[in-house]
Amino acid sequence: MNILLLGSGGREHALAWKMAASPHCTELYIAPGNPGTAQVGTNLPVSVTDFPAIRALCINHKIDMLVVGPEEPLVKGIYDFFQQDEALNGMIVVGPSKAAAQLEGSKAFSKQFMQRHGIPTAPYAEFTAETYSEGQAYIKEHSVPIVVKADGLAAGKGVVIANTHEEALRSFEQMIREQQFGEAGSKVVIEAFLTGIEVSVFVLTDGENYQIIGHAKDYKRIGEGDTGLNTGGMGCISPVPFMDELFWNKVTQRIIEPTIAGIRAEKLTYKGFIFFGLMNVQGEPWVIEYNCRMGDPETEVVMPLLQTDLVALLAAMDNGTLADTNISFFDKKAATVVAVSGGYPGAYAKNIPITGWELAPKHPQTLVFHAGTAQANEGLVTAGGRVMAVTSFGDTLGEAVQHAVATLEQIQFEGMYYRKDIGYEF
Ligand code: AMP
Ligand code: GLY
Repeated sequence: MNILLLGSGGREHALAWKMAASPHCTELYIAPGNPGTAQVGTNLPVSVTDFPAIRALCINHKIDMLVVGPEEPLVKGIYDFFQQDEALNGMIVVGPSKAAAQLEGSKAFSKQFMQRHGIPTAPYAEFTAETYSEGQAYIKEHSVPIVVKADGLAAGKGVVIANTHEEALRSFEQMIREQQFGEAGSKVVIEAFLTGIEVSVFVLTDGENYQIIGHAKDYKRIGEGDTGLNTGGMGCISPVPFMDELFWNKVTQRIIEPTIAGIRAEKLTYKGFIFFGLMNVQGEPWVIEYNCRMGDPETEVVMPLLQTDLVALLAAMDNGTLADTNISFFDKKAATVVAVSGGYPGAYAKNIPITGWELAPKHPQTLVFHAGTAQANEGLVTAGGRVMAVTSFGDTLGEAVQHAVATLEQIQFEGMYYRKDIGYEF
């Protein structure tokens, strides 16, 4: 099978690495990819949202399967774009239709979906410019912290956890009145704050059946001990110690199964990954959000722990045999630790030379995934906030983290920073 993967982050390097290992993978292309994906496939310089250019790649390279890494092309309707295309009839597109991708693309849509299907989620209300004063009143009537969310995609910046009513009112004003996020904030969801521990659960579905392909806990704060600003994710562990049989049963019965049943009942076309962002509130799972893609850096631990052939699994999803597939996992603990540019998640410099990475990994059970890197004449340089994600295995989570940190100690670039305490609370 010839495969084209869209994206250029650590998630895509991990997906590319996993798919390249499959006997079903003939040629693997990545658009646009990064220097890490170039180690396992062929990078093609095309943007993930340039659908006509992606179509030309699919035709020229006789692509059998298109795997979409990030959410933006999915929310913009890449699935539907190819579904209607006779020249590409038969190509498998891994991802939801545009309508189903609203589960990530519109917070109001996903909240309404959860309410319709009795899926536990924080109480909320939605407002627009027409209902601005009702929104202000709603904020004042509810206790803080309170969460203010732009309805649409806002590059991970559309969620504000307000600790005071003033802060919530100000965020609400910025989104609706000042159009801080443009169209994405023309509708705003205001919801109750849930206190607990977050966990990301990943499912592959064909819209009828599903398989759980992994889970992880993401460490989102920049500072050790979960302090400081939110980031795209500074590291992950898997498995998560509280994901025991009792909790898994609640997650499948109350969340995953009603979600799949809802997709089926509403006749949404969904053939791809579902990322359930959950909160464990005193032993009870609640949904914080759905994403229609894999997580980053979660994928960097989920793929290395998945023993089953991913390409075979994606093909099974397409041909209706997903329910009959056996999924197996390596019986190990995994951790990924992300090295970021100095200043991230604020402003940071790019094009800084990276050294020592060719010598890594120090430990045999270690994988170095590229995220924001680029190949320059003089060698590898930084090209983003999150630069590399180092994944290691161990008999314990602590050992896995230690191995990842030992490898990161071999890698250098000016301003490099990473958390050494990933998994600290377990
Ligand atoms: P989202 O874009 O919906 O994932 O929100 C970003 C992050 O904000 C989540 O990963 C949570 O850490 C946090 N968050 C969102 N909604 C809530 C909530 N209702 N209660 C507590 N934390 C939340
Ligand atoms: N790590 C969180 C995300 O991918 O959205």
